[in-house]
Amino acid sequence: MNIWVVGSTMIDMIAYSEKIPGPGETVVGQRFQLGFGGKGANQAVMARRLGADVGIINCLGTDVFGDQTLENFASLGIDTRFVTRAAGVSSGVAPIWVEPNGTNRIICVPGANFAMGPDEAAAAIEAAETVDLVLAQFEMLQETAATAFRAGRTRGAVTVLNPAPAAPPLPDLLASTDWLVPNEVEFAEIAGPIIGRPADASRPEDVAALAQTLGLRVVVTIGDKGAALCCADGEVKYIAPPAVQPVDTTGAGDAFVGAFCYGLAGGMAEEDAVGLGCACAALSVTKPGTQMSFPEGEDLDRARAWTRDPGRTL
Ligand code: RIB
Repeated sequence: MNIWVVGSTMIDMIAYSEKIPGPGETVVGQRFQLGFGGKGANQAVMARRLGADVGIINCLGTDVFGDQTLENFASLGIDTRFVTRAAGVSSGVAPIWVEPNGTNRIICVPGANFAMGPDEAAAAIEAAETVDLVLAQFEMLQETAATAFRAGRTRGAVTVLNPAPAAPPLPDLLASTDWLVPNEVEFAEIAGPIIGRPADASRPEDVAALAQTLGLRVVVTIGDKGAALCCADGEVKYIAPPAVQPVDTTGAGDAFVGAFCYGLAGGMAEEDAVGLGCACAALSVTKPGTQMSFPEGEDLDRARAWTRDPGRTL
């Protein structure tokens, strides 16, 4: 299966601290980790680790972060032939704070990610040999995602939008989206104005109302409670994740989205694709870092086994 991610790359600068500073305050952290991140890149890496053929459509700066990001993709076998470079603007970076209970706070600075334009992205999708699924997020221009989705649909691909970080989606983009996959915070922000009342992902009627109003499919990730899947008939099913002890939740949502897209593009039953997403996300929170925390090797076997039999321990 072939997944094209029209998505961001960031260099994650993660500080682990017992205390998060208030305004004007300096605190001493316990640990620092530099790693590859960005919602698009993370989701691409998760799908690739599971075995999908994955390509990324993105713009990097001409700085060392851009070079290192390309090396990382190459080492994973992710197709970068449509990645461009922009001079005079930095590659994306994301300072991240993580508290002892694994909670994270992120400021992402997209930089060169915003230099991938709508025409370039659409041309890349048109030029790719095979396109089964096109995936996008909001750390790039929404106009870019919209043209890429349109080009993908013309080629018969499924389109999946992870509207993160939360922003009101362009009508043009929603019109060419098949699946909307927000987390519960993004769901509340995006769905409220669309369904005309405060939206809460723990209420099945709110999830169903968003899917019905927009005429698309919806999956909402709800942290340690798993995910809500709005089925084709409008029924909303809540899928509980395996229980784990969280260390760092950074990128867990991306592990979910990458694994879900892998399942969807590979023809898995929708509920199983959501289950695989939950299992991969759960495993990712047990380790520090972003991409470096994503399951691989035997851990992927554990995730697959749990998906087949969610009653078992992960
Ligand atoms: O979803 C986690 C990601 O958000 C991090 O890797 C960071 O780069 C930000 O984009």
